[in-house]
Amino acid sequence: MQLTVNGNVVEVQADADMPILWVLRDVLHLTGTKYGCGIAACGACTVHLDGQAVRSCVLPVSAAQGKAITTIEALSHNGVPHALQSAWIAEQVPQCGYCQSGMLMAAAALLKNHPQPSDADIDAAMTNLCRCGTYQRVRAAIHRAAQAMAQAPDTGAA
Ligand code: FES
Ligand code: FES
Repeated sequence: MQLTVNGNVVEVQADADMPILWVLRDVLHLTGTKYGCGIAACGACTVHLDGQAVRSCVLPVSAAQGKAITTIEALSHNGVPHALQSAWIAEQVPQCGYCQSGMLMAAAALLKNHPQPSDADIDAAMTNLCRCGTYQRVRAAIHRAAQAMAQAPDTGAA
């Protein structure tokens, strides 16, 4: 079947009911997207489908046909980090790092819908789990990125 992944049209050999996560990781070798729980509970597998954050461990790849999948590998644009990635570094968010791809993709979708999110908006949107407890820094980094994107909107591509 044909998929659009990170702006490229790719032909993949996969069962229609294979979760998007496994197509990304095992077929396309895009391993930035992580497996955590497999039951849509942790958010480690978050990618964008037509710009919306989805949990790719429970969505069959057939659901992605005709839509655009964006993964963490395409969050930066032409080598320029997304404002969230810069903010993540500035706030020293990651600990072990395992959950962070999903966190960033969820945050990027949030900022598309809410360019200046309140703490309540962040708490409502960021339901991803982090065993290292980076939640406070995630929140601070999202606010930092929102400010940066207000001043330089092109830092919020993807
Ligand atoms: S691996 Fe998909 S939500 Fe946990
Ligand atoms: S940084 Fe370790 S699980 Fe989130």
